[in-house]
Amino acid sequence: ARLVVLVSGSGTNLQALLDACADPSYGARVVAVGADRDGIEGLARADRAGIPTFTRSVTDFETREGWDAALATVVERFEPDVVVSAGFMKLLSTDFLEKFLTLNTHPALCPAFPGMHGPRDALEHGVKVTGATLFVVDAGVDTGPIVAQVPVEVAEDDDVESLHERIKTAERAMLVEAVGRIARDGITVDGRRVRIGGRDR
Ligand code: GRF
Repeated sequence: ARLVVLVSGSGTNLQALLDACADPSYGARVVAVGADRDGIEGLARADRAGIPTFTRSVTDFETREGWDAALATVVERFEPDVVVSAGFMKLLSTDFLEKFLTLNTHPALCPAFPGMHGPRDALEHGVKVTGATLFVVDAGVDTGPIVAQVPVEVAEDDDVESLHERIKTAERAMLVEAVGRIARDGITVDGRRVRIGGRDR
């Protein structure tokens, strides 16, 4: 399966996918990495791996729709089977999402704590268990059909950073595992039900 990965930051999820894709039996390869800004570590990781990159910044376009269409155009060139939004901090339009099956990771157990501050909000709420979610992106914020989840315990002395780091470790493993299965067995989305291969998820 051909993956286009979108990043906005450090790209550790991207790196986990790149490492997994080094094994041909994984069944997927990252054919391009896209970003919404230049100069980020995620793009440097792609460069080091010899993978083509592209950047489309919202500020270079007059309208959000123009940006979104330009992003879709460049993504389309790489003919992805799946787009993985891995720490990509922009919402994608329904036009984009209708063209490409797009997966996103969120550092909380959806539908809890959607948005930009999953780890902080979980900590402030005082939950004892949070985690990470892989989902099919829809028009909402972290609302799409769920592909995979992993629980992470909150430690008594956690701060936002320590909790987010522990979530990210679990998140990367979940992402690699699920994307590999999707690459090998396929994915179908029927309403809120997601199936990988023949099995019910
Ligand atoms: C991940 O926790 C992701 O879920 C969140 O931002 C983080 C991105 O990390 N939206 P990285 O850029 O993959 O290191």
